[in-house]
Amino acid sequence: MTTSEHSTRTSPRTGPAADGAAIRLSGLHKSFGSVRAVRGIDLTVAPGEVVAFLGPNGAGKSTTIDLLLGLTKPDSGTARLFGGVPDAAVSAGRVGAMLQSGALLPDLTVRELIRIFAALHRNPMPVGEAMLRAGIDDIAGQKTQNLSGGQAQRVRFALALVPDPDVVVLDEPTVAMDVEVRRQFWASMREFAAGGRTVLFATHYLQEADDYADRVVVIADGRIIADGTGASIKARVSGRTLSAVIPGASEQLLRAMDTVTDVEVVGGRYAVHCDDSDAVLRLLLARYPQIHDIEITQANLEQAFLQLTGSSSVDAPSTSAAKGA
Ligand SMILES: Nc1ncnc2c1ncn2[C@@H]1O[C@H](COP(=O)(O)OP(=O)(O)OP(=O)(O)O)[C@@H](O)[C@H]1O
Ligand SMILES: [Mg+2]
Repeated sequence: MTTSEHSTRTSPRTGPAADGAAIRLSGLHKSFGSVRAVRGIDLTVAPGEVVAFLGPNGAGKSTTIDLLLGLTKPDSGTARLFGGVPDAAVSAGRVGAMLQSGALLPDLTVRELIRIFAALHRNPMPVGEAMLRAGIDDIAGQKTQNLSGGQAQRVRFALALVPDPDVVVLDEPTVAMDVEVRRQFWASMREFAAGGRTVLFATHYLQEADDYADRVVVIADGRIIADGTGASIKARVSGRTLSAVIPGASEQLLRAMDTVTDVEVVGGRYAVHCDDSDAVLRLLLARYPQIHDIEITQANLEQAFLQLTGSSSVDAPSTSAAKGA
């Protein structure tokens, strides 16, 4: 079933792994000297899932990606791709990767670089298609060392597509891309994933994870601290604080309101922590007409990560790729 000029994958190149997983990480640990970068990661990704690794600087996202690509060996635990060791999947051309660092080979044009890379693979995607999907037609003749940061990122994306992989791993792919290029990149990535491929990408941005992934895995301090849909992760960090002077109110009455999770009294003001600040505000205005000096603030991402790090519950992993593209 070919619906466009792009080749459309209808079935994986070879059968699924015996256990059915595209990616399976079990009990992974990795330290660098005294830095415990990855401290016990267990994760199973089904074929066709689009998964985001979300976490702050130094969380262990890149180290986990390096382990699953076989670029680094774990201290303990295993990384499997389609049931085999990472090297086997990589040499079979089943994995494409866009890493956070690494220079592009210099003194070549973009087209030459993609061609050389394609020649290394047994069943590469046609060079023209990889360039089209990555949106680099317009810079095909430019020397790699003269590319802007965002252009270089697009070339890296094309290189990740060249093996025509079943799994593509992208470490902070949109860094240095402007808003429009970012939008095109994600559209292209979703189109690529729609053919049944598995995508795993790392990001710092909850919004990016929620918009483009079916499943968000939050990593902090080398561990998975939450795993669920973007909506379920957002619900846990989207709390707001409404603070105001509220004559006639009491802590007890405020606590009894719907979606209120906590109430503090600070310097004659109430700080009402809640999930739905719009609803709480409407109710407060109706009940306490004297309310004044109202401020509503949202937890920033740092606070959100702290909040998630502090909470012990981990959502049941979603294994279906249910969210519409
Ligand atoms: N080769 C290395 N040698 C020493 N320490 C390292 C090495 N690679 C990573 N680390 C350390 O391991 C921890 C995890 O790093 P990692 O790069 O995996 O984080 P990250 O989540 O990808 O962060 P970022 O969002 O900044 O890319 C950090 O404390 C980092 O300093
Ligand atoms: Mg990183």
